[in-house]
Amino acid sequence: MKRRAFLSGALSATTATLFARRAFAQDAGDATHAMHGMTGMPAMSGGMMQGPGPLAPADALPAGAPLAALRTLVNQSREPGQFRATLIAQLAARALLPGKPQTVFWQYDALDAGAAAANDGPVIGPLIDVREGDTVEVTFVNRLPQPSTIHWHGLPVPPDQDGNPSKPVAPGEQRVYRFKLPPGSAGTYWYHPHPHMLSSEQVFRGLAGPFVVRAADDPLAVWPERHLFVSDLKLAADGTIPANGMMDWMNGREGQYVLVNGAHRPHIEVVRDERWRVWNGCNARYLQLAFDDGRAFAQVGTDGGLLGAPRDGIASLLLAPGERAELIVRVGQGASRASLIAAQYDRHKMAMTPGSLPAGPSLILANVGFAPASATQSALPARLREIGPLVSSDPLTVPKKSVVFSEAMDMKAMHAPGASTQAMPRGMQFMVNGAVFNPARVTLASRRGEVEHWTIANGTDMDHPFHLHGTQFQVLARERGGVRKEEQLLAWRDTVNVRPGETVHIATVQHEAGDRMFHCHILEHEDLGMMGMLRVT
Ligand code: C2O
Ligand code: CU
Ligand code: CU
Repeated sequence: MKRRAFLSGALSATTATLFARRAFAQDAGDATHAMHGMTGMPAMSGGMMQGPGPLAPADALPAGAPLAALRTLVNQSREPGQFRATLIAQLAARALLPGKPQTVFWQYDALDAGAAAANDGPVIGPLIDVREGDTVEVTFVNRLPQPSTIHWHGLPVPPDQDGNPSKPVAPGEQRVYRFKLPPGSAGTYWYHPHPHMLSSEQVFRGLAGPFVVRAADDPLAVWPERHLFVSDLKLAADGTIPANGMMDWMNGREGQYVLVNGAHRPHIEVVRDERWRVWNGCNARYLQLAFDDGRAFAQVGTDGGLLGAPRDGIASLLLAPGERAELIVRVGQGASRASLIAAQYDRHKMAMTPGSLPAGPSLILANVGFAPASATQSALPARLREIGPLVSSDPLTVPKKSVVFSEAMDMKAMHAPGASTQAMPRGMQFMVNGAVFNPARVTLASRRGEVEHWTIANGTDMDHPFHLHGTQFQVLARERGGVRKEEQLLAWRDTVNVRPGETVHIATVQHEAGDRMFHCHILEHEDLGMMGMLRVT
């Protein structure tokens, strides 16, 4: 975006500085500082800048409980190759802050627990654990006060079963999603709502769940498996989940808590080498995964399943919002401990003044105790599976598509009377190919079965994770500042981060006719219009 645009508004320099400082304090998860920043802040026309009130202190949530296993969605079908279940989206209350009213989340549940039912387990939706070749039939019941859908992030499901915003399920209504998982689809996926302009709110209130597809010939099937579903929580001091404020809409919402399987800084006890599946289910938070003592781990999978061969000896791995990874974490020799952290990563969040906010500090996701139960180390297979490059039958005529992310800020409109913190801000535009999402407009068109080369260019000053529905793609190259780097890692992905000024080249193919969405997976940006529609014929 043009930072200059910020200066054209009505804000005085003093006021703008106060905003920037307040936003920075919130980023550090320090509610007290945030309140200090607000002291003496002049009242804004329309109240656009007012925050949600004090946040709960960063240490208010208890930490250190053993990592809870995710609930599993029970298969109601007895037929082989069939998975049938019901997912109800409804309110669910949890006692989080001592002495405060219970926090009301929105939750996917298999059972009809009733409105605001007290319950203990993680708020994360139940794990759908199925096999390649299975037919999945999920009845979705919407008990929310808003229309919703279920989108099967990363899965090759038919377009009319993929929870597109054009197919909302009204409050009180239900529908069945049905799809068959093809061979080769084994991987780590997730599901979440995708209603028009309401996805960010529904996800930050708790609606998201993991989805694992298994292959019959999984070379890592014998490894003990652990699931870490990372989500974000912004909690007000009174125990409520506040609506998005201006900074949330602009940079994507980051709460003062990062949760793993719904809990704050859980404890993980590792007694032998393990396979970890990690989901970044945060609205906007980037996870630069690492151990605080720098110990190495291996990456064995991406969004769309296993790599060809393990990437061993890596010390950190960036998971942008929406991305997943499969890791091998080794217990090592002798007892030790380390923290799994989201190390500092600068995604160039915008300030209300020209320039960016500094990157937030690194955060502890979980504390891990390593206590080898035996001296034997498991050997990681040298080959995991065959991945061939996605090539067109005719490389000379491969269709090319261009996606450009851009943004524009109109400070005058943002401060116009009537702009509120509850609704979406006016004057803040996040765009694809020069326009905000319009449900009536087709952005790009493709032919089914045709391999295409896409470029995703980020013309803004902050990172945006690009996500394409219905398929897994391969990154070919990344270009920045006139330097093109061929991608070394052959991997299946549905989400790829695009840094400011960067152009990412991908190869992709759609196999079914219908409409597909592609968008920035910072969900606030998606809701604000950084989304396009791909019509496949
Ligand atoms: Cu997980 Cu359209 O997104
Ligand atoms: Cu998706
Ligand atoms: Cu974005």
